[in-house]
Amino acid sequence: MKYHIITYGCQMNESDSERVSSFFQENGLLEGDEEEADVIIFTACSIRQSAIDRVIARGKEIKKKKEKPVTILTGCVLEEDKKSLSSIFDYILDINDLPHWPLPFLSKSSKQYFEIVPKRNGISAYISIMTGCDNFCTYCVVPYTRGRVSCRPTKEVLKEVEEAVEEGHKEIWFLGQNVNAYKEELTFGELLKETNKIKGDFWIRFTSSHPNDFTDDMIEAMKNCKKVTNYLNLPVQSGNDEILKKMNRPYNISEYKKIITKVKEEVPDVFISTDIIVGFPGETEKHFRSTLNLFNEILFDMIYIGKYSPRKQTVAYKMKETVSPSEKKRREKVLNELLKESNLEKNKQYIGKKLKVLVTNSNSKGLLVGKTKNYKSVSFKGSKKLIGSFVDVKINDYSLWGLKGTKIS
Ligand code: 5AD
Ligand code: SF4
Repeated sequence: MKYHIITYGCQMNESDSERVSSFFQENGLLEGDEEEADVIIFTACSIRQSAIDRVIARGKEIKKKKEKPVTILTGCVLEEDKKSLSSIFDYILDINDLPHWPLPFLSKSSKQYFEIVPKRNGISAYISIMTGCDNFCTYCVVPYTRGRVSCRPTKEVLKEVEEAVEEGHKEIWFLGQNVNAYKEELTFGELLKETNKIKGDFWIRFTSSHPNDFTDDMIEAMKNCKKVTNYLNLPVQSGNDEILKKMNRPYNISEYKKIITKVKEEVPDVFISTDIIVGFPGETEKHFRSTLNLFNEILFDMIYIGKYSPRKQTVAYKMKETVSPSEKKRREKVLNELLKESNLEKNKQYIGKKLKVLVTNSNSKGLLVGKTKNYKSVSFKGSKKLIGSFVDVKINDYSLWGLKGTKIS
């Protein structure tokens, strides 16, 4: 039997898919293309309606096929959506219950979800250190699809890192909806420091963080631990205090800026990315302008912009939408333009610099592509054999979204 996995959403979903893949292979199934698969697994994202709409469209397409494979929906699925989705997919199954999925071709395992060793990609290892979220931002489905916070034991996490490094992975991504709320034998800052002690040549990254759980310990780790990268994703969501309050984000902009200032002061060449929602209910032009002002002060290196999408089960679902779809689009574009301008200016400064790059892939132009320690994209000419290794590159050109260079041999 053959299976095929279609993944939507974030790295957490990627990581889920890696465990599904491994568990199916343990049960004797082989990975195959979509056309030849007997089973298709969708690892879904429910953050925005558009994400779940894509899953529905793909599911419907497959349902029309003459020789239809078995379809399974898992990942982040809202309880309220399950009824309508059950007419499209054969099974809707809880990812945390993977070892016990009631499928005739899988034997039930006595293992727990995290005991399944994921089938990793050989370069970047995604390691979930916690799941769920207790923050209940008013727009967000995560506390409903993933449940409350649950942290994995520190020993188990460190063991998984050691295994991944032994397998040759060069980048460890600690994943969680709110990684800095991690608390087990160690706190998150301590976990970073402990992971840094593991022998091997690799980088440590983490996402996503919440400003309220941010600690000086994390800054120390980014500053002093050689393997901890100078990359921080710290979602702000809005640049306006009133909107933050309506979003149930328990910090204000002045507190957020204090964190960023400190990080910039302490961590050399730090790359800061953030998440911003445009068009939250009640967001006026004035509120939006505060977000633009915040951008101009911080000059984020990357923004993941989301047009607000009302989601069932959340508190904001009951708030009246006040921003039209076209206005959301406009706000997204304005913010994007600012980001582009600032990126272009910043990328220019890299000309002539020598940077260490982890090669992760090759692009359609046949160039190798990778990331620097601070998560800048770099492309350069080289043999595909270099994929998965660190290479020193001298930067001699740049574009909007990245740097170009030549390999230093
Ligand atoms: N609408 C738009 N964006 C959302 N996000 C979460 N929920 C919504 C929503 N309902 C964004 C937030 C979060 C990121 C993962 O997705 O910015 O940080
Ligand atoms: Fe969602 Fe992140 Fe807020 Fe948790 S902290 S509710 S995952 S946006």
